[in-house]
Amino acid sequence: MRKKIVAGNWKMNLSLEEAKTLGDGLKAEMDQNKELFVDGAGSNTPEVVIFPPYVYLTGMIDLFKHHDGVSVGAQNCHHEESGAFTGEVAASMIRSVGASHVIIGHSERRSQFGEGDKLLAEKLKLALKNDLTPVYCCGEQLPEREAGQHFQVVADQLEQGVLWMEKDQAERVVIAYEPVWAIGTGKTASPDQAQEMHAHIRKLIRDSYGEQVAENISILYGGSCNAKNAGELFANPDVDGGLIGGASLKVEDFFTIIKRRKENG
Ligand code: 13P
Repeated sequence: MRKKIVAGNWKMNLSLEEAKTLGDGLKAEMDQNKELFVDGAGSNTPEVVIFPPYVYLTGMIDLFKHHDGVSVGAQNCHHEESGAFTGEVAASMIRSVGASHVIIGHSERRSQFGEGDKLLAEKLKLALKNDLTPVYCCGEQLPEREAGQHFQVVADQLEQGVLWMEKDQAERVVIAYEPVWAIGTGKTASPDQAQEMHAHIRKLIRDSYGEQVAENISILYGGSCNAKNAGELFANPDVDGGLIGGASLKVEDFFTIIKRRKENG
């Protein structure tokens, strides 16, 4: 059975003090609501993953180290193993501090840092090699949707990012569908728009790797997902959770989204 996941991408936000307050607040909510997160047969308990900026990774890993339900990941990694790349961070380093996930191909990296498919494929290889779970982002821009090209755009991104992998690698990837026009805009994809794209992604996975991998792979929705709309998005059969930006910076909102994921198992 595939994992239900609620992930918080903090992006380049928060001072150290603010990050600690957010981490402590989330931990307190998780501790006070333990009964919601007790795993059992057929449980729909979501895995929670937070993606703080690199400099807060070890602090958050320490904070949640005795907390089974919360994992910590990095927002990016470099596409080379190591070397003279001033200012960059390698997948092996991220793994060595105890992080378990890494976001690859976020649209902000694609558009603002010119990250293309070839480079992203190198990052994916290194993430897998270093035993990190890649959260691979895909999603169309508004003009592409308006031109009716969104299914093809996402198919191309998956082709370049995931569908070249061996089956045992592909099943370790989490996919995040993040329509670019919905990120940080307050304009969420409708539940139907999310469901039809997630079903399309799952079909592409099924066509390449068969039913079992398609059924086991988690596909998250991202783009102005918040405490109000998370329930209706998560009610869709192919929406396995969310990759949350702005709303992951507030304990109450993020925790409400986690609860919505649980309720819509
Ligand atoms: P928002 O939730 O702020 O729209 O951001 C989504 C996102 O980019 C998560 O990676």
